[in-house]
This record gives sequence, structure tokens and C-alpha cells, in this order.
Amino acid sequence: MKSNQFSGFHKLTWQQRAAEVQEFSGLTDEEIARITQPGALSNDVADRVIENVIGTYQLPMGVAMNFVINGKEYLIPMVIEEASVVAAASNAAKMARGGGGFHTGYTGNIMISQVQCIGVKNPYFARQKILHHKQEILDIANSRDPILVSITGGAKDLEVRVVESEIGPMVVTHLLVDTGDAMGANAVNTMAEAVASKIEEITGGTVKLRILSNLADHRLASATATWRKEDIGGEEVVDGIIAAYAFAAADPYRAATSNKGVMNGIDPVVIATGNDWRGMEAGVHSYCSRGGRYTSLTRWEKDANGDLTGTIEIPTPVGLVGGGTKVLPGAQMGVKILGVTSAAELAQVIAAVGLAQNFAALRALATDGIQKGHMKLHARNLATVAGATAEQLDVVVAKMIADKMVSVDHAKEILAGM
Ligand code: MEV
Repeated sequence: MKSNQFSGFHKLTWQQRAAEVQEFSGLTDEEIARITQPGALSNDVADRVIENVIGTYQLPMGVAMNFVINGKEYLIPMVIEEASVVAAASNAAKMARGGGGFHTGYTGNIMISQVQCIGVKNPYFARQKILHHKQEILDIANSRDPILVSITGGAKDLEVRVVESEIGPMVVTHLLVDTGDAMGANAVNTMAEAVASKIEEITGGTVKLRILSNLADHRLASATATWRKEDIGGEEVVDGIIAAYAFAAADPYRAATSNKGVMNGIDPVVIATGNDWRGMEAGVHSYCSRGGRYTSLTRWEKDANGDLTGTIEIPTPVGLVGGGTKVLPGAQMGVKILGVTSAAELAQVIAAVGLAQNFAALRALATDGIQKGHMKLHARNLATVAGATAEQLDVVVAKMIADKMVSVDHAKEILAGM
């Protein structure tokens, strides 16, 4: 497979698909076996990852096709249990190609570590004093991680906020740390712990929590794409998607579901690359509530040609160094298949996939409704369970849908009559 556009990829056997992905991504036989062989994650390795291990647990890994991001073709590994998601992402990416694919941006690998200081009588005065000691504080933080400092410069800046709370005002210092290609939780937590006594000395208060913030709003990835109206079913569909978006923008009940659709794209890539999807979820949802009300993660507009333009901007606390990425064989292969070489590139791919997934869901909802596509995939699964061979599958699925009877029993009846 020389291109990530592969007609009929879904019709291949899983072994054939794996062979195509191997060729596209340049994986060795041993490497591809790390995802195709059951038990590639041994219990002995798992036992070193978390506590009280009793075994491992597998999920399907698929690949989304057709993505062009900043002119580069990607295969997107996605680890997820939900049918339709990978197909929908591939389809959305295919329809985006006519408009030039996805374009992305990134604000940098900056994580925030918070230091909470309570019991300060004059918090606004203390805030300024902390800022006046900025360099001293950064030097203490950086003394804890000379390796990171040599690679990225480490802790680069401070923000100090006065946060009103139920127990009175708190002076909250943010260390802004360039964690490079690591997500960086350990590095920034260590730095926050290191500066605690200095902050107590400066403020006269008591430092309590010292921990990173998942609201990583200095580590934002953004993506944009244009879907030409003729590629997606015409201007009516463009208007339908914008009306669907307007609903999510206005109503938190709808925003929760629309954003769930965005995360259908994001989490599977975060998991496939061994990253912390809970951190990602926390960051994304807190970011889209920053205006005081939970709202849509994406924005949809119509341009001067009547084409659909989409944008997304999200915190991306993810990395390629350390954590699950290095230790889980599936994650190592996920990164290799994706072909990203930096945390910045990974973050931008994640943003593009989130936008594509939202497009796919909104388009389905604004046209046929979501069940039609779901039913087809559901019917394929049931036909397979009923014993249909690869050659019989399409016929059985088409008949079940035409008969409006999607069940294993009906698939068996159709097979018996074939
Ligand atoms: C289903 O997993 C996701 C959707 O509900 C998203 C949406 O409603 O936009 C289809």
C-alpha cells in the first residue's frame, strides 16, 4: 500500500489489512506481530505497569484511512470497542481531501504545575512578591531536572493567581514547564514540590497541593479543514451541519453528546499511542467550559463559496516519551504506524481526528440519522456470527437491511436459502 487511500480496505481479511499496514508503515514481521499476536502484552510486562495485576485485557485496534494533515498522508491507529467510529473517521478524511485535508497548529509543549498556598493574609501583595522572585523560583525548579533543562529549557515562566475559595483566598502559582516530547507529569510534579518552601518563605503562607493541571491551556493543538459542499451532499448538508453545531454551542445537553463524538476520534488515538486518556478527557472538557458554560469543542461555519469549514482547539497533554508509550508493545506499534516523531505532531494529529469524527457524526445526524450506518455494521457483525463467509457477507447484510430484520436468526435463514 503506497497511499493511505485504499479502495476496499475494509473488505480484506484482518491478516491482509495488517500486511498492508506493515508495508505502509515499514514495520518488521516481529513488530507487526506485537499487535496481531494475542498476548503481545505479557503478564510479566503488565505486572510492572500497574499494581495487583491478574492478567491483561484486549481491545480492537483499527486504522483510519485517507487522512492528509499538513500535506502528509497518515494511517491513524485507533483502539476502540465501538463499531462505525473508524469507518466514519476514514470517510470524513476522504471527503476532506478535496478541500486540501487538515491544517493544524500547536502552541508548544508547555505543561502547568500548580502550587496552592493558603493562609496568606495579603494575597495580592504575596502574588506580586512571588512574581518578583520569578527567576529564583524557576532556578530552584530547574535544579531538579538538569536533563530536561538541557533539552527544552525546563521551567520557563510563572503565572500567579489569587483564587477565591470556600476557605478564603488562595495564592496559586503556576510553573510553566516545557516538557518536550514527554507528557511530563513526573517532571512538573517534582518541580512543584521543589519550589514549595521558597513560596512559603516569600508569602508567609502554607503550601498544600503541588500537582500538574490537566487544563493544559499552554499546550493547545488546533486543526482546521474545509469540506467542499459538492463532496458532502450539497449546501443543504452544510446548513444541516451548522444547525447541528449551533445546537451544541447553545445547549450543554447536546454539547456533551457532540463532544462525546469528538472524543470518539481522540481517545482511540490517545490509547493507541499509550497516552493517558483520562488526562486528555479532563483537559478537553475543562477547556470547553472555560467561558463559564459547557459548550462545543468545535466550530462550524460556511465560507464565501458555501463550503463547510470546521475548527477545533484543545489542550493536548500527551507525549511520546515515558509512560505507556514506551512500555506497551501495542502503543509502540501505534506510534510507528502513525509515523509521528514528536509530541507536537501527535497532538496535532489528535486534533485533526477529533474534528473529522465530529464532522462525520454531525453529517450523519443532519442527513440519514446515525442508525443507518450503525445498522449496516451491526448487520455485518451479526452475519459473521451467523457463519457468513467473506463472499456471502455483502449479500446477507443487504438482504437483512432490505427486510428490516437485523438479527442472527434472520441471517441464518438467509444463509440457509443461499
Ligand atoms: C456516538 O458514539 C456519538 C454521537 O452521538 C455523536 C453526536 O451525537 O454528535 C453520534
